[in-house]
Parts: sequence; C-alpha cells; structure tokens
Amino acid sequence: MMEKLWIFDTTLRDGEQVPGCQLDSFEKIIVAQALERLGVDIIEAGFPISSPGDFNSVVEISKAVSDPIICALSRAVEKDIEVAADALKYAKRGRIHTGIGVSEYHILHKLRSTPEKVIERAVHAVKFAKRYVEDVEFYAEDAGRADNEYLARIVEAAIHAGATVVNIPDTTGYCLPEQYAQKIKFLKENVSNIHKAIIATHCHNDLGMATANTIAGVQHGARQVEVTINGIGERAGNTSLEEVVMAIKCHSDIPVFTSINTPKIYETSRLISKLMNMPIQPNKAIVGRNAFAHSSGIHQDGVLKHRENYEIMDPKDVGVEESSIVLTARSGRAALKHHLQLLGFPCEGDKLELVYNDFLKLADAKRDIGRKDLLQLVGEYLEDN
Ligand code: KIV
Ligand code: ZN
Repeated sequence: MMEKLWIFDTTLRDGEQVPGCQLDSFEKIIVAQALERLGVDIIEAGFPISSPGDFNSVVEISKAVSDPIICALSRAVEKDIEVAADALKYAKRGRIHTGIGVSEYHILHKLRSTPEKVIERAVHAVKFAKRYVEDVEFYAEDAGRADNEYLARIVEAAIHAGATVVNIPDTTGYCLPEQYAQKIKFLKENVSNIHKAIIATHCHNDLGMATANTIAGVQHGARQVEVTINGIGERAGNTSLEEVVMAIKCHSDIPVFTSINTPKIYETSRLISKLMNMPIQPNKAIVGRNAFAHSSGIHQDGVLKHRENYEIMDPKDVGVEESSIVLTARSGRAALKHHLQLLGFPCEGDKLELVYNDFLKLADAKRDIGRKDLLQLVGEYLEDN
C-alpha cells in the first residue's frame, strides 16, 4: 500500500543560514507562499530565538500561509521553546522542533555533558514544548555519527515524552546510504514505541550523499523528509527537495507518494535562486540549465527517435517546457536536421551533408551555434547552390 511521505521544507531555516542567503520578512513570505503553492506539508519558517527578525518572520509567515504546518526551531532550552511558541501564535497548525546533540562529539565536546543528562534534557524539552503545541518534533542532532543503541534510547524517551515526529539528522553528512538505512532500520526494530511517531530524515550533503541517504531512509521506514529547494544549506547543503520528489516519482516501487505539485518545481527553484543570490550549477539534477539539454550526437539522435531513450522524466513534469537539442561541434546530423526543420528548411541527403560540413567548421570555431548562425549557414548554402 502507498503511504504518504511528508515533505518538510527547511529552505527558510537551514537553507537561509548560508552566508549571503539571508532574506528579509517580506522575501520570506514570498518564498513561503511559493512553497505552499508547491504543496509542501511543513514549512520550517525559522529559529525565533536567534534574532528579532527571525521571530518576526515566523509570525508573518504564520499569518500569510494556511495549508502547510508552520514549524519553529528551538534548542532544548526553555527560553527557546517559549519564544518559538510565541512566534507560532498565529499559525493555524504550529509545530515546535526541539532537540539536542546525541553523538559522542556533541555530548562531550559541545554540550560538555553526559549521555544520561542529555536524555533528561531531551525529555524535559519535549514535555515543555507540549505545554504549548500538540505537534512536537524531536531532533537528535548528529545522529549520523551517534551510537545506535544510545540513539534508540533517546528516541524512545522523546516519544514517551510526547514527540510526534523523531528527526534523525545526518548533521555532518557523514553516513553512506547503507549506514543511514541501517540506522533507520535499527530504530524501527529496537524502539518499542516507534509506531507512535513519524521518523524523519534530515541529511546534509558533505559527501554528496544527501539524496541517496534520504531515499535509503525512506526505503527503510522514514515517512518525513527534510529538504531544501536547490539543496541549499549549511556547508555543502541539505537534501534537495526536487531530487527526492522526482526520485520517488520515477521509482514506483518505493511505496510512498508526495503531495508536491511537481510542475511548480522549476519556477520555485528559480525564485529561490534569485532571491537568495545562489546560482544553480548548470548540471544540477532536475533544475540545472543542462538537466534536459542533449548535446552529443549519439544522445541527440536517440532522443529525437524516442524521448525516453535518454530521458527518465518528462521535462513538463518539473515545469520545464521542453528538452533542448543543443548545437555544438559534438552534435550530429540528426540534431542539425531537426533544427533546420524548425527553421522551415527541411534538408536531407547530399544537401544535409553539405550544410553539415559547413556547420562543423563553424561549430569548431564557435562554442554554441544559435538560430542566427544557422540562418547564415542556410543563406550561404542557398547562394552557392
Ligand atoms: O542538521 C541538523 O542537525 C539540524 C538540526 C537543527 C535539525 O539542522
Ligand atoms: Zn541541518
């Protein structure tokens, strides 16, 4: 049976932490409304204790969007939780996301505490947050490097204290997909009350594994994924929303569905890139400029014969009008013929051969061949013949 996979977008919290990506409240509302149109289930709107501006943004986003759950981050600190609850006062459905570090590094060298005291703080934070909202998510920071037995104990205690979602972040992007999958599996098998909460993935991309780890987590029972548009986030970024959503759409054997309105992906991606001043690498999966551009002769010939020879998804499904056949010195006759046809100059046989030879000379000299270049080639051909 297909189960719902909850899409938790943290572009406005984990994504916005990136230097140079800061937005003002007005811009954050624009992003939140775009995320609502995209169909995300939960918007992590900010970390209200961190600054008056962030507090205000959570308030304003809560007023401006109504469908998604609005989530506010806090540490396992009473004051943080009070401020988060206050910032959520206008949210139709508000969630507090509270938690603490659970790896040996974090317990000893960041919190300077002990494993038992950390469990006590986690339990207290969840219970304290429950005074304000029903929906409390617990994050076990640096779970990716934590001991699984200890992780299971703290997760069980957090659920017992009332956590409705338990987030298992690979904070440092350390895990390999198989390790992350085993972690989720271990929790499913060893936390007695795990059926009372949703397991969330939250993967960072330090080794380029964020999407693979997230999918591995889903395949082993996670039912919420924490993602950002274009994968923006601390250091090498977070898991990208568009990659996970489309991987799930392309692989119908993964027994989950999302509520994402996928044709809105491309415009949302461009909006975030523009507002946050973060260019998208041309070969970025799904939303990069080249994601649906075919440039070598073999691929162009194949895709012109049958789109699915070289495309695993329809570009329209992510909001890209159509794939493109780029003309370079690596292009073949099929691509040239296709473009000439579009220009109203059908051409084959010897005629195509002549134009193709001239085209190759030009393409070697120039990197990209555009419409104007083609018109010139055709003009020269007509003059000579
Ligand atoms: O990466 C992380 O661990 C986080 C938590 C605060 C959820 O962003
Ligand atoms: Zn994070």
